[in-house]
Parts: sequence; C-alpha cells; structure tokens
Amino acid sequence: MTGVSLLWALRSPCNLGCRYCYFGTIEDHRDAPPQQPGVLSHLSRGDLTLTDISAFADSLPGSRVERIFIAGGEPLIWPPVMDLVAAIKAAGVQVVLCTNGIPLNRPHIVDRILATNVDAVSVSLDSTDALYNDTWRPARNGLHGHSDILDGIRALLKARGQQAAPRVGIYTVITRLNIDAVTTVAELADDLGCDYFVPQPIALDSGHPLHGELSLTPVDAPAVRAALDQLHTRPAPQVPAPTYTGKVIEAISDTKPRVAHACFGGTDLFFIQPDGSVWDCPSSLKIAATPPVAHRSIRGTTATELFGHAGCRADCRLFSRDCVNMWPLMDFGTFLPPVRPQP
Ligand SMILES: C[S@@+](CC[C@H](N)C(=O)[O-])C[C@H]1O[C@@H](n2cnc3c(N)ncnc32)[C@H](O)[C@@H]1O
Ligand code: SF4
Repeated sequence: MTGVSLLWALRSPCNLGCRYCYFGTIEDHRDAPPQQPGVLSHLSRGDLTLTDISAFADSLPGSRVERIFIAGGEPLIWPPVMDLVAAIKAAGVQVVLCTNGIPLNRPHIVDRILATNVDAVSVSLDSTDALYNDTWRPARNGLHGHSDILDGIRALLKARGQQAAPRVGIYTVITRLNIDAVTTVAELADDLGCDYFVPQPIALDSGHPLHGELSLTPVDAPAVRAALDQLHTRPAPQVPAPTYTGKVIEAISDTKPRVAHACFGGTDLFFIQPDGSVWDCPSSLKIAATPPVAHRSIRGTTATELFGHAGCRADCRLFSRDCVNMWPLMDFGTFLPPVRPQP
C-alpha cells in the first residue's frame, strides 16, 4: 500500500449513549471533563470549526491520502457532513462513513450518500436481539433503537439497488456477553444483503466500570476463535482476513501489550480526533507514549505537510485490544472498488 488511510473522528456529539463508547459518557464528563491529550468526550468542547475542517479537506488533492473513514461521535447528525464528504470525494479520496445507522432513516441523507458516491457505509449493530443492542447502545432520546437501525440499513440498500456503491456493512462490538453475535449478526448481515461484516472486540481500559462485565478474557479466547473461524466458512458477507483472528486472540489472551511487527500506524494509517489532533493510531497507549514535541493537528496545515512522506513501518511494542480494530480498516481495499488515480 502506498496511500494513507485516515480514521477521522469528525465530531464529538452523538444521538446514542453507548455505555462502552470510546468517548465515555456525557454524564461522567459533565462533572469531570477530561483534559489529557487524546481523551475523547461527547461534550465536544474543543471540536474544530467547519472552517478549519473544510480548509484541511481542501488540501487533500495531490496528497497521499487515499481513503478516509469518517466516524465520530455520530457523523451523520452534523448538518455539513455531506458537503464535506462531497469535497473529499471531489479530491479523489475514498470515503467510508461509520454510523450508528439511525440517521439512514432520513431520505435526504441516503440521497446524498448516493449522489456523492460514498464508497462504503459501516453501520454499528451489536446483536440480533433488540434488547441486548438497545441496552448497551441506548438512544439519548429513549426512542430509537434496533428496529430503526435495521430500517436504516434496508433503506440504504434499497436506494442503492444494483449500483456498486456504497458497499454496506455491519460492525459489531464483541463482549463477554455476545460472542454468539459473531455468527448471528453475520447471518443477519447476509439476510439483509450487506456486503461485509466486521466483529470487533471491545476495548475498555482496566479502570472502566464495565471492564469486568464486558471485556473479553483469555478464558473467552477458544469461543471467540471458534466463532471467527466459522465466519470464514460462509460465502457472504465479506469478513476480515483470517489473520485478523490471530490478532484478536493475541489481543484478548494477555493483558500485557505485545509487539506489532512493521505496524501501519503512523505510516499508512493515522487517527484524527475531533479537536484536530493527529495520532499514529487511536490506541490510548500509543497516544500516551507520544511525546509533546510530536503532537500535531490538521488545524492550519495541509494533508501533504502531515502525510507527505512515505515512511517506513516500525515495530510497535504497544499492540493491544486498543488497536486490534485497526486491522480490518487496513483490509478495506478488498471491500471496495479499485482506487481512483489521484489528480
Ligand atoms: C465511536 S463509533 C463512531 C461512529 C458511529 N457513531 C458508530 O457508532 O458507528 C465507531 C465504532 O467504534 C465502536 N466502539 C465504540 N466504543 C468501543 C469500544 N469501547 N470498544 C470497541 N469498539 C467500540 C462503535 O461500536 C463503532 O462501531
Ligand atoms: S453511536 Fe457511536 S459514537 Fe455514539 S455513543 Fe455509540 S459508539 Fe459512541
């Protein structure tokens, strides 16, 4: 791979309040807003302005950036998001939207996804069981949930029809309580007509109040391996490469960080948080290990300045469940049509 992928947590606000979310909960942060670099919060106190975001997007043409995963927070509840997507696509960069799926019930969002030729839409859904999903991924308004997510996926697939884009997939957070979702949500994704399915192990630090209840442990490794192996016996939907199984098992088998040889983080993949900070990857371990002199932002600079030079992949001694979810992102080329040449 010669191009760069960006995982861009575009904006902090969200219409759901998932209890395990990387962004924490608004309730906790109201009393104690996080101050440390790299710590995310739905409170969105430091989110970049539209002007700064647009200036960075305008700098993409001719840069090494080839694919941007737009996540958040919930990107599709930010009104200017589809104008930004149009600017990124006009720069010749592929776009994968990562959404909780509820906004897909708004016809104008689906229309714009098709009109801007978004390459893929990844929808988060944790179970075939509505109660399970909505317990861990509750809507802030207490109204929306599992059935709306399925309706959103169906609406997008129906509008797409036989067109090649966008590819549509489901992402499922795997915890101690829903290992069976590796296979049952894959079946659901197939029934719905989705193109891909990605199970991702939950990442919670050891001090998180849900760590004991949800985090996968070495005891869970055989069941997780069996479930992931079973995925590869299915003809559809597309799933991460078999090597991902090994990475997941490695990540959950030991609480100590391990070595990722020749890691793509900081060479082929970067993480951008809503305040514009740029990190080698979203791992809290990696961010904490980044010296202040290496702190960077997309604010007031260009994509070429930030990502202009093809670096050399280095071994990273911080591989953990914090970053294993990056491996499927690096596989995305296999889910998508060939990359268009850069202008
Ligand atoms: C932070 S969300 C942002 C995009 C969008 N709001 C969504 O939920 O898809 C990106 C992905 O991270 C997953 N996620 C959130 N917190 C997580 C955690 N603690 N461990 C593993 N995955 C997590 C979500 O389920 C989702 O698939
Ligand atoms: S929908 Fe996404 S960003 Fe929102 S709380 Fe859930 S995981 Fe976090």
